[in-house]
Amino acid sequence: MKKNIRLLITKDYEEMSAKAFEVFKQEILNGSKNFGMATGSTPIGLYKNIIADSKSKNIYADLSYFNLDEYYGLEKEHEQSYYSFMKHQLFDAINASNTHIPDGSLEIENSIVEYQKILDANVIDLQLLGIGNNGHIGFNEPGTPFETHTNFTRLKNTTREANKRFFDNDIDKVPEFALTMGIADIMKSKKVLILANGESKATAIYNMIYGEVTPLVPASILQTHPDLTVVIDYKAASKLPIPTIGIDISSTRVKIATFDIHSNKTAYDVINHQDQDILAIIDEYLPKHLGDMTYKLGVSISGQVNDGIVNSSRLSFKHFDLKSYLEEKYNLDVTVVNRANASAYGEYVSKYSTEDSLYYVTIATGIGGGYVFNGEIVSGKNGLTGEIGNMIVDDNNAKTSIFAEGSLEAVYEAYKNNKDVNFEKYFAKAVSNIIHVIDPSIIVLDIKNPEIDLSIIDKIKEYVKEFSIKGTKQTSIVVSQVEDESLIGAAHFVKQK
Ligand code: F6R
Repeated sequence: MKKNIRLLITKDYEEMSAKAFEVFKQEILNGSKNFGMATGSTPIGLYKNIIADSKSKNIYADLSYFNLDEYYGLEKEHEQSYYSFMKHQLFDAINASNTHIPDGSLEIENSIVEYQKILDANVIDLQLLGIGNNGHIGFNEPGTPFETHTNFTRLKNTTREANKRFFDNDIDKVPEFALTMGIADIMKSKKVLILANGESKATAIYNMIYGEVTPLVPASILQTHPDLTVVIDYKAASKLPIPTIGIDISSTRVKIATFDIHSNKTAYDVINHQDQDILAIIDEYLPKHLGDMTYKLGVSISGQVNDGIVNSSRLSFKHFDLKSYLEEKYNLDVTVVNRANASAYGEYVSKYSTEDSLYYVTIATGIGGGYVFNGEIVSGKNGLTGEIGNMIVDDNNAKTSIFAEGSLEAVYEAYKNNKDVNFEKYFAKAVSNIIHVIDPSIIVLDIKNPEIDLSIIDKIKEYVKEFSIKGTKQTSIVVSQVEDESLIGAAHFVKQK
């Protein structure tokens, strides 16, 4: 992304409007007097903020306002003319008198000449823009040359379709023509502030920032503007390759890393937490990883996760809303996932993204499992899907004090103490059950306990073959080769959200 672009990504429309208001007000405090204004649904929240602020001290009345565009052929007083829009959404409430809007009720030539005269006589300090789904700015539709000044334009059907919501949902009532400030006029303003929210704008925003500079995407010219601020919500940002942060919380360590837009790790800390407070570690390290841009944060954590609320006896989290804690404290978009599921996702994105489904099993202190289907983590209740360790596999009812009788984890505990226990066989039983129930295309085994010999994998495969029902497709069983899979999984999963 170009250095002249300042990109601010917000949680939602309200936050986008509040951020835009901050930028707008700062510009006034810096002494600017001439503001380019936009209509449409996007800036309404910003205008509400301005009106609210004007109630305590009206610093807005004496500024000059220059609007981008106006429908052609609507009476000024028509409720959907941009003249009426500005009057009702902003100008009346702030007592603005120095306002300029192209006049859609004059002869075309006169309107154009009159408005261009005004634009030529003034320099706009900050031009506010919305963006069309097709990348238009003002009403400069795709194909408009970048050199144009105030012009008369035929609206594309996509634009009329998008705007029919203001005209009783009847496209025939949407004017066919409009007058608009030209792209050359927009580019002449000292600063540009463009806002967008909602998924329908995501492609236009991607093309504006990363696409080729072409009249087919009018907003792409803004890449060449020396001072552009883009304030968009997560939905409008959903197609951008945004850098992310991952935090991985295991029973022994906290790992924190940043990933650039190409998914490379750019900064990395590993902290043993032992008896330290995990939140204190996050509070110490996370700020070091935050940049100017708002990041998305993915957290993977051992334990149950329900809508960001964590229950983890090992980590002493009891019904703790980790998601809200981090979102509020750091103003980030946070997703919290169960660690085994994050690992499954990390394996999937790093190596197996062409597979339709992947089941991941870790054999570490305990035995955990996670499941990715069609590119999504399948979370299940409490964020746990593939709790393979709880599967009952042993008719002789291996017993431990904590695990269910006959469960794979109970067998595993017995095996840790006595290598004569046929763990491979019981493990293969559990894996076969997984295959019979969810039929994943690939199963990744991650053996993290150094005391376990990797040769058990061949034995497991043999048993799985023995247990498999004739005629079912063979699931391939592979050994994990991805490092930091849960960290990568958490950071990448949140990117897709
Ligand atoms: C409005 C304008 C248009 C809109 C764009 C997005 O003055 O020039 O470019 O900004 O059509 O419209 P909304 O905000 O309604 O999605």
